[in-house]
Amino acid sequence: MEKILDIITEKMQQAFSAAGYDAAFGRVTVSNRPDLCEYQCNGALAAAKQYKCAPIQIAKAVAEQLEKGDYDLCEAVMPGFINLKLSGAFLANYLEQMRTEEDFGVEKIGAGKTIVVDYGGANVAKPLHIGHLRPAIIGETLKRLYKFLGYNAIGDVHLGDWGLQMGLIIAELHEREPELPYFDEGFTGEYPEEAPFTVTDLEEIYPTASAKKADPEFSHKAHQATLELQQGRRGYRALWQHIMKVSVADLKKNYDNLDVHFEKWLGESDADPYIPAMVEDMKNRGIAVQSEGAWVIPVAEEGDKKEMPPCILVKSDGSAIYATTDLATLVQRMQDWNPEKVLYVTDKRQNLHFEQVFRAARKAGIVKPETELEHVGFGTMNGKDGKPFKTRDGGVLRLEQLIADMTDFVRTKVVENQIVAENEVEETTAKIAMAALKYGDLSNQPTKDYNFDMERFAAFEGNTGPYILYTIVRIKSILSRYGAWENLPIQEPANPFAKELMIAITKLGPTLESALRASAPNLICAYIYELAGCVNKFYHETRILSEEDETLKAGYIALVGLAKNVLEQCIHILGFSAPEKM
Ligand code: ARG
Repeated sequence: MEKILDIITEKMQQAFSAAGYDAAFGRVTVSNRPDLCEYQCNGALAAAKQYKCAPIQIAKAVAEQLEKGDYDLCEAVMPGFINLKLSGAFLANYLEQMRTEEDFGVEKIGAGKTIVVDYGGANVAKPLHIGHLRPAIIGETLKRLYKFLGYNAIGDVHLGDWGLQMGLIIAELHEREPELPYFDEGFTGEYPEEAPFTVTDLEEIYPTASAKKADPEFSHKAHQATLELQQGRRGYRALWQHIMKVSVADLKKNYDNLDVHFEKWLGESDADPYIPAMVEDMKNRGIAVQSEGAWVIPVAEEGDKKEMPPCILVKSDGSAIYATTDLATLVQRMQDWNPEKVLYVTDKRQNLHFEQVFRAARKAGIVKPETELEHVGFGTMNGKDGKPFKTRDGGVLRLEQLIADMTDFVRTKVVENQIVAENEVEETTAKIAMAALKYGDLSNQPTKDYNFDMERFAAFEGNTGPYILYTIVRIKSILSRYGAWENLPIQEPANPFAKELMIAITKLGPTLESALRASAPNLICAYIYELAGCVNKFYHETRILSEEDETLKAGYIALVGLAKNVLEQCIHILGFSAPEKM
């Protein structure tokens, strides 16, 4: 569906033409004086210079040409503005179209385009910790947003499953259980089906091994194991398979709990086969040059304001690093999916890394000149006091624990307020907790740091996830008391509160598009907060179910029903859902 602003701009341009002026002056904007009007056109002021006459004269002549039925107000005011208020008929017509078209008639700007969203970024053999919350929920939201706007969006978790961390685990296992067949180079039989460790073991083995990195002998052993693993040593590959299987199952479970789902579970290891040919090619074409024994890609450009070190492709010891993997992953993505765009969601401390990788990829022609590469670098989630989030003993908080804490907090409220029957407590609690957690995060501009404040995020009032859910639940209850409502048509607004609500609903498409363009889920949060406010105002000012005029009542119900559907669509994009009662 065409956006309202575009529709009325077109009509305004026709009016300028009809009045004998250049149509280009007919641009309409959202009013910056909402007390006076909803939309305005200032084109007469600029036109006056060209036509050498008073702007008000032009504004009046243009206003004359506008179709009166579209507006409750369409007035030329000094010095030459045209103020507009849409008519109830126009709005009802537009909303009825939104109600009946698929996905509210939102324009599918991504039709036929593919985007890869690289988010999550979990590391195998390490439990998810609070640092993984933001990439998971911001990435999932952006992916769902792209999907809703028509893109073929491929979410790829890009597991950290190939580097030194694997060598560290293998080296540590070797010290603990050298008799295992995986370490016997002469072993030619079948390796056991079962892994020699559980995920809980791994979660202890990895940090123990990692803490031993400072020990030169152990460190050498781990590096050696990494190298041999990458070169294909059979026993190590088998061990690696076990690590992957045990760890990925656990990661999947944890991401599932967050309602975060990846289309692809690829990792750094999947990029490995692309590295040799890519490096060879870059060396041959002089894209990579030698520097102190390493191969690097110079990526500094004229006009750089900050220092831009070269992108390291191969270290002096011959090993590939993080950037190498990201470049090779791009080779794979272009080859397999040929995306229009690749979007990375990571901590903003990786800004430089991605700048280097993007430049190197362009320089080497790994992506097409028109392929968009974007890095959404997000800020840190701190504790309530603004300091880095730590457990009581100074460790890193597990994501599972954070979710459990929020869930416990919400459950107490749900039980105390006797919101639902006992057997529904868990489901309702889980939904509210998820909304509190995700909205609390997503309502912030992604690049900014924010403080995690459980009480504030979980409050049922204010700009919070639970408040949005509460609004949806309130409408659901009205609708269920009314009965069948799905086919009721939208009517003209019966009061100013209805009109305000209708105007808010029309902003769905423009909001989602802006959020996508700016990679800013916070715009969706701000939108539904405004929309929920309009719904609640309408609810307080209008007798809905007790209205005696059945036609009027049906109109109210149709309107709040549409508002509910829009709110639910938006929270689906934000990755949470509403309970039946609250
Ligand atoms: N595993 C990485 C980390 O823990 C994040 C991966 C992000 N994605 C990427 N393509 N580099 O920092």
